[in-house]
Order: sequence, then structure tokens, then C-alpha cells
Amino acid sequence: MKLNIAVLPGDGIGPEVTNQAIKVLKAIALEFDHTFLFKEAPVGAVAIDKHNNPLPDNTLDLCKSSDAILFGAIGDPKYDNDPTAKVRPEQGLLKLRKELGLYANIRPVKAYDMLLDKSPLKQHIIEGTDISIYRELTGGIYFGKKYLSEDGNTASDLCEYSKYEIERIAHLAFKNAQSRKKKVTLVDKANVLETSRLWRKVVTDLAKDYPDVTLDFLFVDNAAMQMILNPKQFDVILTENLFGDVISDEASVIGGSIGLLASASIGDKYAMFEPIHGSYPQATGKGIANPIASILSAAMLLEHFDLHEEANLIKEGVEKSLKLEITTPDLNASYTNVSTSKVGDFIADFISNPNDTNIN
Ligand code: IPM
Ligand code: MN
Repeated sequence: MKLNIAVLPGDGIGPEVTNQAIKVLKAIALEFDHTFLFKEAPVGAVAIDKHNNPLPDNTLDLCKSSDAILFGAIGDPKYDNDPTAKVRPEQGLLKLRKELGLYANIRPVKAYDMLLDKSPLKQHIIEGTDISIYRELTGGIYFGKKYLSEDGNTASDLCEYSKYEIERIAHLAFKNAQSRKKKVTLVDKANVLETSRLWRKVVTDLAKDYPDVTLDFLFVDNAAMQMILNPKQFDVILTENLFGDVISDEASVIGGSIGLLASASIGDKYAMFEPIHGSYPQATGKGIANPIASILSAAMLLEHFDLHEEANLIKEGVEKSLKLEITTPDLNASYTNVSTSKVGDFIADFISNPNDTNIN
């Protein structure tokens, strides 16, 4: 298969981790006789520095003319503490999601057996956890009308959803549940928010098309508690943009590090693959950032094109690296000399020689 992949490394550790995903994809291309062509473009703070625009036109054009996008990370502390900044790195990512219509963000959360002791949660609580979060990504409070009064003392963000926006992601979530444990949990705040009541109504109606899937509901405050009390109860979580953002960072604690969590952002025409973590500015250039979220995002990219054998080989390589503790300090505080690129090398080598006894 031939794929044109746009690479948007972004800020902070974005370039370091994305390089490892590319390394792994190149190993896959060689092994399975695919042609993957990578073209890079700036986004975020680096794009503001260079072009005064967090999403330059050329970057957006490249994404639109590619088969898939591999995204690194976004954000720079110099903007975080400046509430008056008009141009922000995050606007680049948000505009990208909106312009490309990437309405469904899928975030798998899993407790790896070999990492059970890395989570601050008790092992018997997290063991066996396997959750698929469907976060709506182009609507809600992230994209509603914003207002700041002239005196700067009052502000508002509008949260708006339409039936259409809810239905299109709900269908994807239910279809995913059909291939899993056949349960969808809608996370909302329907006791307070009108938008949440619309979500409940639309999703309840739509559930009739999926009689083999059980639908249940949780208010987001309770869901946040259930996520750490009993995460095994979840199969597919369906939720709106802001709740999905918060719940997925919380869920990353189950895996032992946010550096493990990958995601796919899917629309009708385009697809982008991105770790859920941020730009981790304190670690930039130190070679300590965990590249696995980026590498697993590359595996999700392959799955999107039905390259399942290839994706599974990446996942096997990741599991082997975890088992042998070829891991960065977020997972391995006592053994700190494994760098970001060593993890990438190990997984790429595994792909080239899955039966190599030195590696096994
Ligand atoms: C994420 C990030 C983004 C979000 C930020 C960087 C805008 O936190 O992908 O989860 O809030 O969606
Ligand atoms: Mn987030």
C-alpha cells in the first residue's frame, strides 16, 4: 500500500516522539513492502514563531492532500501564563480538527499486565481494564461563541450541540461496542445541562438500531469517581468534547503513564493520529519522553487502513519493550538510561526481526 503521511511534529517533545513513530512506520514499510511517504509541516508555537500563525495555510493544504496525518504535541508555557495572548499554539490544533472535520476522537485505555505496579491505583482494581473512549472533537464548549466584556470582568463560552453532531459519533461508538463487550456508557451532565439532555435523547433513540448493545448513562462527576473506583465496568465511553478531554487524562493513570495513550481523530474525509499527552516542555531535548503514545498512534493509523497484521506487530513490539523494561523514566524511575530513541530503536528492530532470540 502507498500512503502519503503528513507529519506535524509541533512543540516541545512532539518532534522527538514523532521521530520514533516514523522510525517504526519505516520498519513496517520495509517488512511488508509498503510505501510510506512522509512530509513535514509546522504547527503550534513553532509555527507562530516562524509564520505568526499556529496553522499556516501550507500546513493545512499538506494535511488535505495527504492520506493521513501524524501529529506530535502542542503547547508552550510562554502562552499558558499570558491570558491576553491573542494567538495561541492550541488554536492550531483546534482549527485543524475543525477544518478537517475530525469529529470522533478515539482513545483506547488499557492496563498492561507488566505495568500494573506503575499505577498509583491498586492492582486488583485496574487489572484487565480495557476501555475505548469516544470523545466528540469538533463541537461543544471548545467551539462555541466566546465573549469577553470590554472591562475584562465577564466572560462566557457557549456550549452547543446538534442532533447531527451527536448521531455521527454515536454510530461509531455503537459499532465499536459491537466488536467489543457490547456496552456503551454515555457520560454527560443531564441533570443540569440542556446539551446533555439532547445527547441522552438522541443516543437513546439511536440505540434502538443496535439491539445487541447495552446503553447506560453516568453523570460526569460520578463517572470521574467510577473511573478510579472500578474502571473494569467500562467498555465504550461516549461523551462530549470537554468531558472527554478530562476523563481521558484521568483514565491514563490506569495505564501507569500518560505517555502510553494514543488516539485517532476521525472524520468523513480525513484522519489524524495523535498522542493524548501535551508538549511536556520540561523534557524537551532531554531524550526522556516516552514515545509509545506516538508509536501506538502510528499503529492506529495502520488499523485505519485495515493493515491489522502490521498494527499488531507494532503492539507486540511495544509489549515486548514494556516486558523487558526498555522504557523511559516515566515508567522506570530506577533505570534512567533508556532514551526516547532507544525505545523507538528497540521496537523498530523487533519489527524487522520478530523472532530474533537476542530480542525475545
Ligand atoms: C488534547 C489536548 C487538547 C484538547 C489541547 C492541547 C487543545 O489537551 O488533545 O486532549 O484540549 O483537546
Ligand atoms: Mn487533553
